[in-house]
Amino acid sequence: MKEKNEPYRQDVAFIDRDKELADLRLFVDKRPSEILFIHGPKSSGKTTLLYKFLGQIQKEQRLDVKFMDLRETFTNVYDDFLKTFFRIEIQGEKKESRASNINIGFFKIDASVEKKILEKRADPFKVMKAEFLELTRQGIKPILIIDELQALDKIYLENDKERQLITALFNFFVAMTKQAHLAHIIIASSDGYFLNTVYNDSKLKKCSRYYKVDYLAKKDVMEWLLNLEKYSKIKAYRLTEEDAEKIWDTVGGSMWEIQDILTELFENPIDEVLHLYKKKIKGMIEYNIGADMEKEKVLHVFLKQETARLRDFISQGIAPAEIDPLLQNLVRNNILYFDPTEAVYYPQGKSYQWGIKLYFESIEQYK
Ligand SMILES: Nc1ncnc2c1ncn2[C@@H]1O[C@H](COP(=O)(O)OP(=O)(O)OP(=O)(O)O)[C@@H](O)[C@H]1O
Ligand SMILES: [Mg+2]
Repeated sequence: MKEKNEPYRQDVAFIDRDKELADLRLFVDKRPSEILFIHGPKSSGKTTLLYKFLGQIQKEQRLDVKFMDLRETFTNVYDDFLKTFFRIEIQGEKKESRASNINIGFFKIDASVEKKILEKRADPFKVMKAEFLELTRQGIKPILIIDELQALDKIYLENDKERQLITALFNFFVAMTKQAHLAHIIIASSDGYFLNTVYNDSKLKKCSRYYKVDYLAKKDVMEWLLNLEKYSKIKAYRLTEEDAEKIWDTVGGSMWEIQDILTELFENPIDEVLHLYKKKIKGMIEYNIGADMEKEKVLHVFLKQETARLRDFISQGIAPAEIDPLLQNLVRNNILYFDPTEAVYYPQGKSYQWGIKLYFESIEQYK
């Protein structure tokens, strides 16, 4: 009978994010005065956190939450942006997102305004501002959350082909937060490089705040792994403290990787699983380096240190002019993470540190 109710032998866990949720709450309880950038390494749980937060606040009467998940939306031309942000509201219609009972917000317009916007006879920024003003007049706080904002990169304005949409949007966000205090703007992206470029290009200094969502801390990972039934609904096996330590040592607090390993453990012994996992990441590093010896030099830096600044790469003998495209490639391929607040680079999690270590050890063997 039980199996009927529980069709899966492993569930998606959600481990403590109380601090982050409380911090987001504080942010929206304060009068809007800056843009909030949520950043953090690949798969650090930014989107999950935002959906959780959305679930907490969306039922509140005095809040209007618009949540744009741009990864779910095909956006590569200006018209896609318009169609994503503006929609005619159909009475009673609920737009379901990937988590149930969550409405994806958009700017509600009527048919005549939609026509004008699509024909580029109405200014979309004015339409957005008008809605924020109206909500504020009614005593409702508008909150705009945009996930995967980099999807709007390289889209140009319809009436000004020289000007990027993203720059216009940021100027608008600054006007709505720092200047008019009308709406909360929360933006998430795992592309720290992109955020940094936008930050510098749009003269956003002192208009925005960065908030890092990182992998789980060791105590939370141990709590999870030692209570698999509670968090992951796994009944088929249990882990000892020593097993949990081994997993932490291999992937740290990277939740996606932990879940992956937990799945493997149904069928295979832990030492074999972890050994193969490290080998797999080493293979990914090797594939990414290919024949690019300059890239190899960049990664070599992380054999001796966990994080690195630009000057650390220069002291390895990489020409300054070559560094930027190399780092950009490694960041965009999710090998390295760039933390825009501290301007430091580091491998995306512990498993990548292992991959780098094993890669260089394997080269040593050839020498
Ligand atoms: N608090 C958590 N506890 C356990 N697992 C989590 C938690 N948050 C996220 N995860 C898991 O980690 C994985 C990645 O989460 P998510 O997509 O939210 O990360 P992200 O930071 O938005 O990733 P990306 O960098 O690709 O945008 C998912 O499989 C998710 O289920
Ligand atoms: Mg995400």
